[in-house]
Amino acid sequence: MLIPQNGMSKKEILETLQEYKKDDLDWKSGKITSYVYYPGDDAMGLINEAYTMYLTESALDPTSTPSILRIENEIIGMISSLVNGDANTVGNFTSGGTESVMMAVLAARNRARALRPEIKEPEIVIPFTAHACFHKAAHYLGVKAVSVPVKDSSFKADADAMRQAITENTIMLVGSAPGWAHGVVDPIREIGRIALERGLLFHVDACVGGIHLPYMRKLGMTVPEFDFSVPGVTSMSVDIHKYGYAAKNASVILYKNKELRRYQMFACSNWPGYTIVNATAGSSRTCGPLAAAWAVLNYFGDDGYMKIVKEVMSATKLLIDGINAIEGLEVLGSPDMCLFSFRSTSDKLNVYRIADELKRVGGWHAQPQFARQNSDSNLQVGMTSMNVPLAEAMLNDLRGIAERLLKEEKTPNAANLALAMKNIKLKADEETVNMLLNMAGVSNEKVPDSIEEVNTILESLPIDFTEYMLTSYINNILKPA
Ligand SMILES: Cc1ncc(COP(=O)(O)O)c(C=O)c1O
Repeated sequence: MLIPQNGMSKKEILETLQEYKKDDLDWKSGKITSYVYYPGDDAMGLINEAYTMYLTESALDPTSTPSILRIENEIIGMISSLVNGDANTVGNFTSGGTESVMMAVLAARNRARALRPEIKEPEIVIPFTAHACFHKAAHYLGVKAVSVPVKDSSFKADADAMRQAITENTIMLVGSAPGWAHGVVDPIREIGRIALERGLLFHVDACVGGIHLPYMRKLGMTVPEFDFSVPGVTSMSVDIHKYGYAAKNASVILYKNKELRRYQMFACSNWPGYTIVNATAGSSRTCGPLAAAWAVLNYFGDDGYMKIVKEVMSATKLLIDGINAIEGLEVLGSPDMCLFSFRSTSDKLNVYRIADELKRVGGWHAQPQFARQNSDSNLQVGMTSMNVPLAEAMLNDLRGIAERLLKEEKTPNAANLALAMKNIKLKADEETVNMLLNMAGVSNEKVPDSIEEVNTILESLPIDFTEYMLTSYINNILKPA
């Protein structure tokens, strides 16, 4: 495609974009969990206005635009106080959980370079359930992520096993509050104790729970210890674009003090252009997400968030209890907030088939998660305020699907596929990838309606090969039009 010779009319442009959107996930239905955290139409109107008010401002140099500095500092103050930060706690606004986590790993690595120069190959010790972005941070930053299996069936980090995994190269420990896959909070106090004993940094990834959990606590619900009040915690990541219901690209990285934060920063005056001081990864960037996040925090206030959390938690309980009562299905572990996943306990119920049926029957979207270590194939549900009114309907559809599939005699597609896969010689090349994609009904032009085949194939491959295949696929579909 070329830039058009003559500019198009505004009307034509917007209509074209609308047309492009027609196959996108229909999040407005309220039947999509996890992807979108919609704050409701009224808050969204405000978010739009605040976002566009700051769309053109650049965060390149906060000293040139004092209001940006003020907004960022106010956001950090609000989030810090939610997670029991004190007068020494500092932080920065970032584009998302991944960037926040990357900043924590970067700061840990740079600090080790300065204070422990004997470490040539720095390591971070993470529970197996830590978000994939820790592996990404390790990959980008030349750090080794040492992944430690979690405790059976509780899916909580195994603090003793983490202690065993510490070497003279370890620079940081990690815990999640909660982990994405099962919604379970790690034993933060125990890990904090080890961090203190061994003189290590300890990052708590509260991207998911950093806002939701404190409001559960304010509502008198049981919440495991997870924040700066726990001795040993040195940094935390908290996403505002998840359970703060802000527009995307809104997260914060917090440090116990500014000595720790210093190692995340970058300055350069060794070139003939303007001097650069970047606190986070981006340089020139819009301040829309910053202003919009500030707006939504102020819009809801404590009362608004408490109301949301209360409703979301009662819908979550309804679903968890309801799913556990369905023959052949079981929620994994004991989720600590409004994210959970469920597996099948029957040969006749393939969770990927259930996901397909959920979509076909009611337009529901649940996130498939592969069987890895002690975690079976499952579907993950992250409840948000938008899903609350539909929880009962989702449960009814799920119950109906499970009952129907349990009665079906025919061999599920996945079982046939798994058999066919046994005869395939795996080679990391385009030909093998294309053959596997064909088996799954995936082409470079279209993702299939059914996820059963593709997930069965991806799950059964060696992990390296799955990653190779995913990379090849995305590498192929990202091509100039
Ligand atoms: C626990 C946890 N940490 C980090 C991330 C990464 O966040 P983002 O997708 O905003 O980069 C996620 C995303 O789901 C998460 O669940």
